Amino acid sequence: MTKSTRYTSKSKRNAQESVRTLISCEDIQRRVGEMAQEIRRDFPTEALHLVGVLKGSVFFLTDLARQISGEISLDFIAVSSYGNRTETSGEVKLTRDLDSSIEGKTVIVVEDILDTGMTLKYLLRVFEQRKPRRIRVAVLLDKPERRVAKVRADYVGFKIPNEFVVGYGLDYAERYRNLCDVGVLTLGTKDKKGTKEKK
Ligand code: IMP
Ligand code: MG
Repeated sequence: MTKSTRYTSKSKRNAQESVRTLISCEDIQRRVGEMAQEIRRDFPTEALHLVGVLKGSVFFLTDLARQISGEISLDFIAVSSYGNRTETSGEVKLTRDLDSSIEGKTVIVVEDILDTGMTLKYLLRVFEQRKPRRIRVAVLLDKPERRVAKVRADYVGFKIPNEFVVGYGLDYAERYRNLCDVGVLTLGTKDKKGTKEKK
């Protein structure tokens, strides 16, 4: 089932963007529920400390947290690596640290997407130094073709092809996070004759 939504950017004249649904709201909700069960099955009695990577993971984290039974606590960290482009710079910078210590806790790092892996590699190095009891990684999406850093997630919602996606927390220039589905973004421009070109 695919559907296409056309958005016209007002800020850039002639710029045209479209989003084609890749994973529907319903499929996301079903899979998030399954992931919550997988996580609780692996740690039946432990309090789990979910650490969300802002801002992309927010929708995934709040849905996941509500589906995990038992004791849960939450914290957030923010890094920047992408800016307003669809290509990564490979540079990761910590822009907001956690509020509380993770020492002795069972930490589940919650990320929207595992792409090159640079962000997670950086975060796991930072977290390991803080002596958690154990660390696991949950990502909604995984783009294995793009991997550069040697890093893997313990829980993966969906493996996706090498396409730039938006929605359910994922953005392009801070837009589209509020879409319920995940979709592939196409950037296009219209020349004066009205022919659509792909960027
Ligand atoms: P990585 O460090 O290359 O693995 O990239 C991780 C971060 O890049 C994610 O947390 C996202 O914020 C961003 N990112 C990677 N791929 C996409 C995409 O297809 N759409 C939107 N953001 C993306
Ligand atoms: Mg992110």
